[in-house]
Amino acid sequence: MTLPNSLLELCRISDLPESRAKGFKLLNQSYIAVKSNGDIFVYINRCPHADTPLDWEPDDFIDGDTGLLRCATHGALFELNTGECVVGPCIGDYLTAVESRIEQDRVYIKP
Ligand code: FES
Repeated sequence: MTLPNSLLELCRISDLPESRAKGFKLLNQSYIAVKSNGDIFVYINRCPHADTPLDWEPDDFIDGDTGLLRCATHGALFELNTGECVVGPCIGDYLTAVESRIEQDRVYIKP
């Protein structure tokens, strides 16, 4: 199998437990990869409210009460599978989705 040169490997699927999120840095950009119902979603790690990373502590992205992605700065909550803010100061805005592709056990993105 040949992948387009424009795709970069972000992580392995096995790096991502169900309903959890992890941060990755690639080419000076920070990404969040999250698994929800077996699907993988990748976002730029920047909150649409104030353009800050979502996590203050590495990989601390999931709100313990709701299971949603949480921005540590002002508490905005985002759907795992759409990146839509459903609670907080930027309600209705979205995290920036990154095109991804799964090949075997690996997640590739188009940066
Ligand atoms: S910077 Fe994320 S909610 Fe304000």
